[in-house]
Amino acid sequence: MTYTRDSIPDLTGLTAVVTGANGGLGLATAAALAAKGAHVVMAVRDRAKADEAVQTIRDETPEASLELVSLDLASQESVKNAARQIAAAHATVDILVNNAGVMATPERRTVDGYELQLGVNHLGHWTLTASLMPAILAAPAARVVSVTSTAHHMGRTLDPDNPHLDGRYDPWLAYGNSKLANYYFGLGLQRRFKAAGVSAQSLVAHPGLSHSDLQVRTAAEGGAGWQGPFWAWMAAHTGMDVEHGAMPQIRAATDPEARGGELYGPRFVNTGPAVKLLVLRPGRDEGIRTLWEVSERETGVPMTIEV
Ligand SMILES: NC(=O)c1ccc[n+]([C@@H]2O[C@H](COP(=O)([O-])OP(=O)(O)OC[C@H]3O[C@@H](n4cnc5c(N)ncnc54)[C@H](OP(=O)(O)O)[C@@H]3O)[C@@H](O)[C@H]2O)c1
Repeated sequence: MTYTRDSIPDLTGLTAVVTGANGGLGLATAAALAAKGAHVVMAVRDRAKADEAVQTIRDETPEASLELVSLDLASQESVKNAARQIAAAHATVDILVNNAGVMATPERRTVDGYELQLGVNHLGHWTLTASLMPAILAAPAARVVSVTSTAHHMGRTLDPDNPHLDGRYDPWLAYGNSKLANYYFGLGLQRRFKAAGVSAQSLVAHPGLSHSDLQVRTAAEGGAGWQGPFWAWMAAHTGMDVEHGAMPQIRAATDPEARGGELYGPRFVNTGPAVKLLVLRPGRDEGIRTLWEVSERETGVPMTIEV
């Protein structure tokens, strides 16, 4: 049966953290979780846009329980501050949706000197998840959802000697690498949850092609070449609206039948209802091992899973 917003169970009493909840798929995710009674921590960079997002959610769900926390994933310090603030206010985090992202940007660095897309899409979420881990493990059955993309097929396992693509930057390769990192992170985290015997579960989702700000911004920034305007046109004319595009990550976060290690996405590659997909990527053992090694080394933050 098609999983829709009506399928989401009652989430009253649960605390959900959604990164990038001020727009696009993150806003659609926050709105759906809030409508079912979750307290939603909207972890966001642009606060003015976030105020509008809060209003959008309240227009639909006046009683929505919402909280704004400032988060710039391009700064490890900002990520740690956000995690500290969330952990101080909440004993448990039941749902963490690592959603925020940028695509095919011109070559740029984060505050900490990481290649921007790897830094924002993966390394920021790495540190956020690690820093929230005590609250995640304190929840009775937490879920961590990593948002990847079909672009992970273009990605390569990180080169431990050059994860930031020094001297060989390509905007789409960097995006693919970051989205493969999200994919491997979700799968690797589930392996570690299982090995530690904890109840928390890690799942992966992708939204197909969804008409958010992602393609428009990518095209406007000019780093993506002809593919920038092409994907902006494709998303506008063939993409799902964000409410439908967000369903795979919403399903991964809420479907009582979903299990750790699973991947959710649209049935027809880029469009369609949210379904469980096969995890096919060959070479993932090595990919996950390398991701853990590089992420711990680059951030200095271990992914400790201890109850
Ligand atoms: N749309 C698609 O077709 C598609 C396809 C595959 C995968 N995805 C994935 O879906 C996720 C959500 O993207 P979207 O489509 O909803 O795009 P979007 O509308 O552009 O939203 C991206 C979100 O990420 C946030 N963000 C960007 N840089 C950030 C930073 N440094 N710190 C904190 N937040 C930051 C943005 O916040 P600001 O407003 O502050 O910039 C915004 O909330 C991304 O991970 C993307 O890779 C999307």
